[in-house]
Amino acid sequence: MKRKVDFLVIGTGIAGLSYALKVARYGKVCVLSKTDVLETTTRYAQGGIAAVTHQPDSYEKHINDTLSCGDSLCDEKIVRMVVTEASKQIDELVGWGIDFDKNALGEYDLAREGGHSEKRILHHKDNTGYEIQRALIAEVYKHPNIEVLEHCFAIDIVTQHHLGRLVKRNMPDIECFGAYALHLKSNKIETILAKITLIATGGCGNAYYTTTNPHLATGDGIAMVHRAKGIIENMEFVQFHPTSLYNPFESPSFLITEAMRGHGGILKTTEGKEFMHKYDKRGSLAPRDIVARAIDNEMKISGADYVYLDCRHLDADDLKNHFPNIYKKCLELDIDITKQMIPVVPAAHYVCGGIKVNENGLSSINYLYAIGEVSCTGLHGANRLASNSLLEAVVFADRAAKDGVNKIKTSKHIENIPDWNDEGTTHPEEMILITQNRKEMQQIMTNYVGIVRSDLRLKRALDRLEIIWRETEDLYKKTTLSLDLCQLRNMINVSYLIIKMAMARKESRGLHYTLDYPQKKL
Ligand code: FAD
Ligand code: SIN
Repeated sequence: MKRKVDFLVIGTGIAGLSYALKVARYGKVCVLSKTDVLETTTRYAQGGIAAVTHQPDSYEKHINDTLSCGDSLCDEKIVRMVVTEASKQIDELVGWGIDFDKNALGEYDLAREGGHSEKRILHHKDNTGYEIQRALIAEVYKHPNIEVLEHCFAIDIVTQHHLGRLVKRNMPDIECFGAYALHLKSNKIETILAKITLIATGGCGNAYYTTTNPHLATGDGIAMVHRAKGIIENMEFVQFHPTSLYNPFESPSFLITEAMRGHGGILKTTEGKEFMHKYDKRGSLAPRDIVARAIDNEMKISGADYVYLDCRHLDADDLKNHFPNIYKKCLELDIDITKQMIPVVPAAHYVCGGIKVNENGLSSINYLYAIGEVSCTGLHGANRLASNSLLEAVVFADRAAKDGVNKIKTSKHIENIPDWNDEGTTHPEEMILITQNRKEMQQIMTNYVGIVRSDLRLKRALDRLEIIWRETEDLYKKTTLSLDLCQLRNMINVSYLIIKMAMARKESRGLHYTLDYPQKKL
């Protein structure tokens, strides 16, 4: 089974859909979602999108905040580029029908989040992501050149390796020609051939037991590119959001947006004492790495399973108006946030590393682009500044689209690609083995590769992961493909990269904090 398109886009979040809309004028676009088109991480984004709109804010302030948060590991050229190209992309989002909240003067109602020296977050109440996703889907379905394939899982990219031709950094010259995709409803595997392939598969929070990420965030794109020998970097920098709602039986964990602290919410111990000023003069609004570590430390000291976010001193109507979804959600759990403190814990939230790309989103594999959370552009360095992720996705969608539209003139479909071969495989006898291995992997990552690390813990994690890796590879070779098995394999692959890169970093920097090397902060 084969299909030929000009652009293959894997992912229907902000990155994939905004890119699809930009290239659709130049050729036939096929967009894949492994779930339905709406179910993405993007739709759960709460706080908003960071951009400089007017004074007293300035590009220099946003650039400095991003650089300082990234702990000297950001690529300054990329930071400048993203910050200064933001407003054009915001205008485009607005042109597609996205409604950012405005104040009585008709100006954007800007919010503030941790690490930002000014109010600069454009938002739609506390469900900005849903508003973005809604508007992009509507535009995509209007476009005659875009076909969306739902419940269609990209297994691997189709590549050719020219081992004789060595390019920069002694890497083999690799080209991408599309992907193999499993139609989850029919169980048929299709070869989708494309002149340009874009990976926009999002993050990998589900490698951890407690995460704010929806179940789809299993690091598929990173694993696919790693298997194809593309370059992956900075995976040790996993961001834990300080404030997910403490509700042990809920997965994914519900986020309590940082904008609530920007609005005046204060972190307190279970005894009701403010603690963040012990750790950073910015208090509850310090960057995420610092706040998450401080909470982790306070929980270890007190033995409590959570700390509190206190909003009781804030104007009740204003709070309900700005955060209607959080208010409603907490009320369902009998917590009235205007009268009671909210129990919160850190949860795996965002991966700063990923597929290494250049300033146009091009990976180390020819004709293969990666944008959005799956990519590593140099913007975030060792720690992402809040609300810079949606921004990065739209700026890179624009650049990758322009670059791809030029490149398509010289790229061709490849012929004679064999179809996927699953001869000799059988249905798995016990699906429970996959479920058990997934749980074990998540426990390993949570227990040994979390907010505070050490050489000993990382070594333990690697040894234990290796057993699960061997069992899963064995199962993968013998059984017919299923979504659960492929996702588990990808998460193990990504977990391996996180551990190996964490082991290689012999310092505490940004989100990578280890007891064995001198700490720079906290
Ligand atoms: P996603 O939106 O995750 O989309 C991934 C897409 O890829 C999906 O369509 C999925 O089906 C598809 N896919 C994945 N694997 C495959 C496969 N193998 N085959 C086929 N399809 C596949 N960032 C901000 O800047 N501001 C915020 O306010 C903010 N709030 C957040 C709140 C929460 C709760 C979370 C979890 C994150 C938040 N973030 C925020 C981060 C931000 O939302 C994400 O980084 C961003 O939305 C990622 O967008 P994306 O397009 O890269 O991927
Ligand atoms: C939040 O709203 O706190 C999440 C923002 C982000 O992850 O950038």
